[in-house]
Amino acid sequence: MITVENLTKRYGSFTAVDDISFEVTPGSVVGFLGPNGAGKSTAMRMMTGLTPPTSGRTLILGRAYRDLPNPARQVGVMLDAAAQHPGRTGREVLHLVGMTIGVPKDRVERSLEMVGLTSEEAKRRVRNYSLGMRQRLGLAGALMGDPQVLILDEPANGLDPQGIHWMRQLLRAYADQGGTVLLSSHLLHEVQIIADDLVMIGRGRIVARGSKAALLGAQGTRANSLDNDALAVAARAAGLEVSGDRNGLLIKATPEQVGRLALEARVVLTDLHTTGSEALEDLFLSLTAPDARDHVAA
Ligand SMILES: Nc1ncnc2c1ncn2[C@@H]1O[C@H](COP(=O)(O)OP(=O)(O)OP(=O)(O)O)[C@@H](O)[C@H]1O
Ligand SMILES: [Mg+2]
Repeated sequence: MITVENLTKRYGSFTAVDDISFEVTPGSVVGFLGPNGAGKSTAMRMMTGLTPPTSGRTLILGRAYRDLPNPARQVGVMLDAAAQHPGRTGREVLHLVGMTIGVPKDRVERSLEMVGLTSEEAKRRVRNYSLGMRQRLGLAGALMGDPQVLILDEPANGLDPQGIHWMRQLLRAYADQGGTVLLSSHLLHEVQIIADDLVMIGRGRIVARGSKAALLGAQGTRANSLDNDALAVAARAAGLEVSGDRNGLLIKATPEQVGRLALEARVVLTDLHTTGSEALEDLFLSLTAPDARDHVAA
C-alpha cells in the first residue's frame, strides 16, 4: 500500500510537484503518467526518501520510507536504471544488492530468472548492456528483497514492444500475489499496456486519475448499426449525448449501455467499441496541453 498525501516540492519559486494525493492499493498496478518535466521523478524521489518534500508525506505500508525497518525488503525501488556501475557484471551488481540488504545468495539467480536475463548475459559487464537489458537488471535489483511494494521510474524505457508485454505480465503476476506497483512513464501506450489504473500529472498537478477502463470509456462508445438514426433517437431519449460522423455514432456511454439500448430499440449493432486508445491519447494531450513544453506553431 502506498499513500501519497498532499505531496509538494518547491525549488525556490518553482513548484515541481504541486499538492498531489493518491493511493496505490495492494493487487494493483498504477501508472504515473505525465509529459517530460511533469514532476514524476521528483515525486518518486520524495516517496522513497531521497528528496525531502516541501510539504505533504508518503506512507508505504503505513510508514514513512525512512521509518521502515528494512526498506529494501519492503519496497523495491528503481529510479535510474542508467546509474548502475558500468564496470561490474550484472550478476555482481545483484550480489552487491543482496549483500547490502541481507538476502540469501540464491535470490540473485531467482531475480535474474524473473527478469529474463540469461546466465551468459549476467556475466557481461553492465557497460555492454543494451538499454533494455539495463532496465531488466534494474528491475532485478528492485526485486532482490522480495518486496511487497515496487516503485519504478520509467521501467519500460528502452523496452521493445515484446519487452513491454513481458513487463506487463511480470508486474501483473506480482500484483496478483498481493503486490503494490507504482510505475511512471511519459509514454501513454506503455502505461496503457502495463497499468490497470492511471494517475496523470501535468506541471506537478494531478489532472486525471482512475481506472484505465473508466478513463478509456470516459470519452464514449463508437457504435454502428443497421439503423443509426433509430439508435441515435433511442440514445437521446435515454438522455445520452450523441454525435455522429461518417464513422458512425459517438455516444457518451459505455459499450454495455449502448448494447442494451440497441437491444431495447431492436436495432442490429454491427460495431461497438470504446473510442479506445485514441481517446485516451486525446485526453492525455488535452489534459497536459497547456502544460506541454512544446507548442506546435500553427
Ligand atoms: N533539484 C532541482 N532543482 C530545481 N529544479 C528541479 C530539481 N529537480 C527537478 N527539478 C525540476 O522539476 C521539474 C520536474 O522534474 P522531474 O524530473 O520530476 O520530471 P519528470 O516528470 O520525471 O520528467 P521526465 O519524463 O522527463 O523524466 C522539472 O522542471 C525539473 O527541472
Ligand atoms: Mg523523470
